Amino acid sequence: HMENQIDIQMDQRKGRRLVLFPLPFQGHINPMLLLATILHSKGFSITIIHTNFNSLNPSHYPNFTFHSIPDGLLESEASSLDLVALAKLLNIKCTDPFRDCMDKLLSDASEEPISCLISDSLFYFTQAVADSLKLPRVVLRTGGLSSLVVFAAFPLLRERGYLPIQDSQLEELVVELPPLKVKDLPMINTVYPDSYYEIVACMVNESKASSGIILNSFEELELSELDTLRQEFPIPIFPIGPFHKYFLTSSSGSLLAQDQSSIAWLDKQASKSVIYASFGSLAALSEAQFLEIAWGLANSKQPFLWVVRPGLVRGSEWLESLPSGFLETLNGRAHIIKWAPQLEVLAHPAVGAFWTHNGWNSTLESICEGVPMICMPCFTDQKVNAKYVSQVWKVGLQLENGLDR
Ligand code: UDX
Repeated sequence: HMENQIDIQMDQRKGRRLVLFPLPFQGHINPMLLLATILHSKGFSITIIHTNFNSLNPSHYPNFTFHSIPDGLLESEASSLDLVALAKLLNIKCTDPFRDCMDKLLSDASEEPISCLISDSLFYFTQAVADSLKLPRVVLRTGGLSSLVVFAAFPLLRERGYLPIQDSQLEELVVELPPLKVKDLPMINTVYPDSYYEIVACMVNESKASSGIILNSFEELELSELDTLRQEFPIPIFPIGPFHKYFLTSSSGSLLAQDQSSIAWLDKQASKSVIYASFGSLAALSEAQFLEIAWGLANSKQPFLWVVRPGLVRGSEWLESLPSGFLETLNGRAHIIKWAPQLEVLAHPAVGAFWTHNGWNSTLESICEGVPMICMPCFTDQKVNAKYVSQVWKVGLQLENGLDR
């Protein structure tokens, strides 16, 4: 009987198309493509709209239809703007091309009817477009529930004087949001602080105006935060993650090639002996910070697998700032790569700890594999995630008081 019901549901969905629109950054592309794969397995047809900037490779996803839109970003803007400026500019420059693309898709009678748009919470401009097309929009919030609670509290935090942050208050508890201290609030160094507040407000308000929010998290992890959000948001909230656990293997939306040599190297290491260090797709370090991390890893006496993404060290191509002979003296105890197959690495029995920037995907992936974390958040939600990892879930320790080899 159950099986019959599922068949009937699948039949009803056949001929129903969903349009998905990811924000073009790695930490947002991965969960959107996983969500697409989940929905496709439930019987929906999937169309993905993506920007030319960080554009996707359709050949990895033969079951989906892809449409690329011109985002109008100049090469110089894409490579040099700070993240806040870039996010704001994408919302402005994508509006017309996205609307044109939606118009075409909606008027194409040869395709199945579109029942819904699913777009990233940071593509807040899409709510107005969906409204004008009378199409429901569901939001994908790629971060956790806990950080969304904090973003939604920004107006209150400003009213109560926690924001903008004063250096003298960093150690103060935010009594409205325990156990967060002022220093854990999700801020970012930017030359456009007003734009940051504006983006956060638009993200929250346009999410509230949507038909529902899907999150890559789960109730058991963030129950009280889910209760809070359900009181504050007048729409259904679906914490249906972790997305990558729906399938035995998940194909990757990786923008960079994943270096498989890391797995062969891990195979040769003792159980739970390796420190895996990776700081995600966006964070950047000064050369001085990079060297403290390098010596910290060396001094740990543990084997380590370290992802040094090209561009991680400001002003360097890749590893030039390491002292000459650094790797040789470690006698094979170190393996440095440009990009890892992270899910496989975290699931590998040789990995004993993850030194991470606490991007939400990395945090969730580490929790799922039971790998304890050394938390070194850089900006925005990473700070909230790190605090929850160390103080609420108690599955990691936060590196505080500066970076010292
Ligand atoms: C960004 C923001 O910085 C973060 O605050 C927000 O929560 C999500 O977007 P990012 O730096 O991309 O995060 O990190 P993260 O969220 O951890 O996502 C990185 C993704 O890339 C993960 O899915 C991870 O598995 C993958 N990855 C990372 C690799 O495949 N290989 C690597 O070497 C490193």
